[in-house]
Amino acid sequence: MTSQTFRTTTGKTNHNDTQPRILILGGTTEANELAEHLSKDPTFHVTTSRAGVTVNRAKVSGNERMGGFGGVEGLIEYLRTSAINVVIDATHPFASTITGNTWTACQKFEIPHLILQRSAWCAEQNDNWIEVPDIQTAQEYLRTLENSMTVFLTTGQKKLDGFIAIKQHKFIARMIEPSVSDAEKQNLKIILQRGPFSEDEETRLVKEEKIDLIVCKNSGGTATYAKLIVARKHNIPVLMISRPPLPSAIVKSTVKGILSWLQNHFSAL
Ligand SMILES: NC(=O)c1ccc[n+]([C@@H]2O[C@H](COP(=O)([O-])OP(=O)(O)OC[C@H]3O[C@@H](n4cnc5c(N)ncnc54)[C@H](OP(=O)(O)O)[C@@H]3O)[C@@H](O)[C@H]2O)c1
Repeated sequence: MTSQTFRTTTGKTNHNDTQPRILILGGTTEANELAEHLSKDPTFHVTTSRAGVTVNRAKVSGNERMGGFGGVEGLIEYLRTSAINVVIDATHPFASTITGNTWTACQKFEIPHLILQRSAWCAEQNDNWIEVPDIQTAQEYLRTLENSMTVFLTTGQKKLDGFIAIKQHKFIARMIEPSVSDAEKQNLKIILQRGPFSEDEETRLVKEEKIDLIVCKNSGGTATYAKLIVARKHNIPVLMISRPPLPSAIVKSTVKGILSWLQNHFSAL
């Protein structure tokens, strides 16, 4: 890569101005992998930003910042004061607020914006998926099922109330950390676990809890895929929540794709 001075809007010189400054929006395994690669490369100055939602977080290589920016304007201010040259949104496919905010902020601040998002899962032969556009539609669907079912929820903490309000069903919700008010809920059992999950573990859970139906987001990746294999083998229907649409940024599905984009972009300057 050629030596090049990049935009610094802070006026401060407490970093190497020849290093492109990259902001990774994180909270995923892919973000951590990308940070690990880039932080080993002296070409770049890399910072990973995390929302700080979970208490027990995996370690991230390189620089890190924590917490929300305060919407689009806060993010623009951060990009300006930190003299960021490229933003890589490697947040979870369902983290649509930060993804939308990032797109708007990068448009306004006029810097390249890439999205790192793993490929979605696709239904295979013998899968029994009912695809729905969002959580609300999943809840409406469950409301129409009159027979009592045991439903395995892997949709996270958000909007849990909407599920447990459907009183004819029993819910088994798996999440990383407990949400505050769950103890009181009568038709809810919480399982606190962090993936990855094996096929054996998922088979055991499905049998022990007598799961009739699974509700999940189309997150993609391997860490939580085993439940779908087990559903296929045991003919368990899956209510699959589709991903929200992406903004019109450059989208790569692998860390390698992002690294080669960065290499090409900065060597061409
Ligand atoms: N949604 C999921 O299913 C899921 C699953 C696994 C991991 N995660 C990770 O958990 C985080 C929160 O997810 P979410 O669905 O609550 O996101 P969200 O609804 O899109 O974002 C909510 C707010 O959280 C802040 N935020 C989110 N990601 C951030 C980041 N990487 N750095 C700094 N601030 C961030 C932003 O606050 P401000 O507006 O104040 O900037 C954003 O407006 C994301 O980083 C995501 O990658 C989400």
